[in-house]
Parts: sequence; structure tokens; C-alpha cells
Amino acid sequence: MIMQNIWHKNAIIYSLDVETFMDSNGDGVGDFQGLIERLDYLSGLGINCLWLLPFYPSPNRDNGYDVMDYYNVDPRLGTLGDFVEFMDRAREQGIHVLIDLVVNHTSIEHPWFQAARTDKNSKYRHYYVWSENPPQDDVEEIVFPHAEDSIWEYDQQAEAYYLHHFYKEQPDLNIANSEVREEIRKIINFWLQLGVSGFRVDAVPYLIKEIGVQAERHELESFLSEMREFLSLRRADAVLLAEANVSPDLTCVYFGQGDRMNMLFNFYLNQQMFLALARQEANPIIDALKSLPKIPKQAQWLNFVRHHDELNLNQLENTQREEIFQVFAPEEAMQIYKGRGIRRRLPPMFGGDRRRIELTYSLLFSLPGIPLLRYGDEIGMGDDLSLSDRDSVRTPMQWSSGQNGGFSTSDPEKLTQPMISQGEYSYKSVNVAASQRDPNSLLNWMDRLIRIRKQCSELGWGNWQILDTGEPCVFAHSCEWNNKTVIAVHNLADKSCSIALKLDGSYYLDDLFGDHQYEVPGESHTISLEAYGYRWFRLNPIKP
Ligand code: NOJ
Repeated sequence: MIMQNIWHKNAIIYSLDVETFMDSNGDGVGDFQGLIERLDYLSGLGINCLWLLPFYPSPNRDNGYDVMDYYNVDPRLGTLGDFVEFMDRAREQGIHVLIDLVVNHTSIEHPWFQAARTDKNSKYRHYYVWSENPPQDDVEEIVFPHAEDSIWEYDQQAEAYYLHHFYKEQPDLNIANSEVREEIRKIINFWLQLGVSGFRVDAVPYLIKEIGVQAERHELESFLSEMREFLSLRRADAVLLAEANVSPDLTCVYFGQGDRMNMLFNFYLNQQMFLALARQEANPIIDALKSLPKIPKQAQWLNFVRHHDELNLNQLENTQREEIFQVFAPEEAMQIYKGRGIRRRLPPMFGGDRRRIELTYSLLFSLPGIPLLRYGDEIGMGDDLSLSDRDSVRTPMQWSSGQNGGFSTSDPEKLTQPMISQGEYSYKSVNVAASQRDPNSLLNWMDRLIRIRKQCSELGWGNWQILDTGEPCVFAHSCEWNNKTVIAVHNLADKSCSIALKLDGSYYLDDLFGDHQYEVPGESHTISLEAYGYRWFRLNPIKP
């Protein structure tokens, strides 16, 4: 058996967009040199894996998810040389780097598409999916319903329609074509050779869709195994993290028998978690965990609260979505894509209630799997609803109360995105420097959370179990691995309570972490919890 270093079973992942993280040359755009300057901060925070959003040359119709050149760095962000320097420094700090692999589609400006549209006989014509007479009945397939009314766009030059699940400026690649698969392997290899630990694979369900292509579903799916085999043979510890927002019964397509994607974003659990938070009831989380299939031993779930997109609630029923909107996004401007999701960051959704923010991150870090943080989560950054679509949650990192929040020395007009400079979440009050000075800040709390999580490998590796609490508002679970067990208890409601866990009397609970200095639970295993309280324990045998 190939010995693999399975680092991703217990990683703490932090995602950022180089463009909005730190600007080193004062042009208003974040860059790799800026990110290099901030690696000490990231390593100090304790994260051990970075996921970088697309940094390739792009016309930026979709925040870089429309790639023009897979082998280069957007010149606004630096050069390939800067990238290699960054990789070197990240390795020194013990930080793995995942990058986005956006190969469901290219930019319309990619040379492949340009060749494909102008010359019917070009080999690039077959890199994309064409139709002279596309079906009209696939509106359900449109990902951005506010901007597009079809997944087919007529191209005058090509005299045919091309497929695009996302914006029309993002024509879908045809992975049924073996030459396209070969191109994807080359891209993977290129970045592996530059030292990345793997890829966040964009839009995987669309990559393997049969629409318009001459291939059976299983042939398309087999590409997931091909990709993985190629990757693992080149670098045994590299991973593929799939963006696949699918129902639990379909996750096996993506994990395979442990031979496809190493990790999946846990979209299903994420949506049910928000339902639980809105209802102040544990049941949706319990049901979600129970409906997720057992995954291969070396596979992993990546849990998250928010990321760079909307909070997508598409797997919930209309009434459930409405419940969440009422509590967390009552105004239409807070919602997005015809009521499919929410375009807010977490703290404003909770009216800045620190107790609920802590509760949610404590939950995130203790759920079976591993956690994802997004830049700014650690200091409680807010959103800017005056910006369009998902830009509301893509404002630059807030480093200090100085000019442009310490992000850039440029003229504010030139910033790639405006800073949040007004109100409760302004960089003047919410920033890294102020948070570091304040022992009670969210940042210092998050630091502690990360430290404790790193001591609880059971949560990444272990078998989990739901614990009966008798209180509908309390979610309690245990994770056991290598004869060690962690128990976490979360009170989702705004009233305090007390629960008694039914545990074997020969064990006691060692307090690891919590929202308060509570009394040590006695032999009865009775646990008190404040409103929105949370506690983590390790189960230890009582010595005879
Ligand atoms: C998923 C990405 O997260 C999103 O930002 C993007 O718009 C689509 N894929 C298309 O690439």
C-alpha cells in the first residue's frame, strides 16, 4: 500500500482572495508580495492550509472564475516568480496551499475559445459544447438566474450555440473530449510542480453533466478517478477538494471508493446548520449528520459557515428557507438569486451577538470533519450590501484603523473593492491590530479555538455519535478515535439549561473549552449551559 501523509484529515483551512488580502505596492489591488508579508500572521493564527481563490489572468467577469490563461498569475497580483516565492515561504511556515482548479469552463477570452469560435475545423472547436438547435427546456440548469435566461448562447462567429452553465462569458469545456482531459492533467501537473498541495475543484457536478456531450454519465464520472490517480501518482499527499453542492445520496459519486475526490464541502450540513440556528433547535443538524453516508476512511468533509459566494440554501424546502430569511436576512437586499441564498457575512446576520458568533464557530470546529475559515471571519468582519451580488462579502481585509484599513496605501477610489468604512463593521473599529491588543477580542478567542481544535484529532479522524440530551435546543455529540473521546455540547437557544449526559460512570469529563468558567461536571455528568453556551470535554477514565 502506498504510504500517504493524510494531513487533510485534521487541517484547519483558511481561504482568501489574493486580490483583497494585502496590497504591497499601493496600486489598490492585493498581491502575492502582500500575502507573503502576512504569512506570519496566518501562521500565528494557527491555520495550516490556505485555499487561494483564482489568481490567474482573467477578464474578471466572475471574480477570476473565468480563466484566460491557466499557466500564469494575473499581472495585477504579481508574477509566477512571486508565486514561487510565496510557495517557498508558505512551506517554511508549514502551511499547505490549495488553489482553485476552474476547468468546468474557461473565459470567453481564452485562446481556446477564440480559436473554437473562429474556425470550425480547429481542434479547439471540440474543446467546447456546441449545438445548432439547443433545447429550450433547461432553465432549471441556469446557475445565475438573475443574469442569464438560458444555458445556451448563440455565437455569431461560430454560427452555433455554446453551452454555459454560469455566465455567458464562461463557455463550458467538453470533458468528454480526451484532449481536454489531457489539458486538465497538464494544468494539474504544472501547479503540483510549483509545490501546491492540491486543488479546490470548481463546479464539479457541472463538469460531469451529460448536457450536450456525447458521452455516458459513467464515462464523465470516470474522469474524477482519472484526475485523482494522476494527482496521487505525482504527489501522494496532494488532495482534491470538490465544490459539489449535492444531496447526501449523491456524495458517493464524488468520493467514489476513496479513489475520487479526497474532500467535499459539506453543503448539506451547512444549510441544515443554518436551519437549526434559525429555529434554535438541534434536530436539523442531527438529521443531517444521520443522512450523510459513511465516507471512505481517507476522505474528509470540509465544514464551513460562509465562503466567498452566497449562503446557498437551495437544498432546503421553500418554507425552511423562509424561516431562515425571516431570522437572518429579512430584507430582500440581503437575499440573492431569486431567494436562493443570503449575501451577508455571519456577524451582521446575528446582529453582532458575540455569543451566537462564538457558538457557531465552536460548532463548526467541533463537527465531524475539518473547518474552513474565510479571511476576516477571525475578526468578525461584516458585509457591504450596497455592493452588487456577492461582492457584498468580498471587501478587503481589515488590518488596522489606518488608511484603507491598512490594506493598501492607494487612493481609496482605486481600491479593487471599497473598504467597509462606515458603521459597526467599519475597519476603524473592526481590524486585526485592535483585535490583537484586546485580550477579549474574537480574534484571541479564535486563536484559542484553533489551538484546542488542533489537540482534538478525534474530531477529524473519529467515529461520531449523537448524544441524547433530552433538550431539543442542545446538540451534543462525541467523536472517538484511538481510545480517546471528545464530547461537544452546544446550546442553540437564547435561554440557559442543564442537561445530563448518559455516560458510563467510570468516566469523568475533563473541561477543554467553553463560553464560560462553568462548574466541573460531577459524576452525574450534569452539564449546565448558558444561553448560546457551548462546552467541549475529553472523556477520561476514572482511575481505580
Ligand atoms: C463556484 C464558485 O465558488 C463561484 O464563485 C463561481 O461563480 C462559480 N463556481 C463558477 O466558476
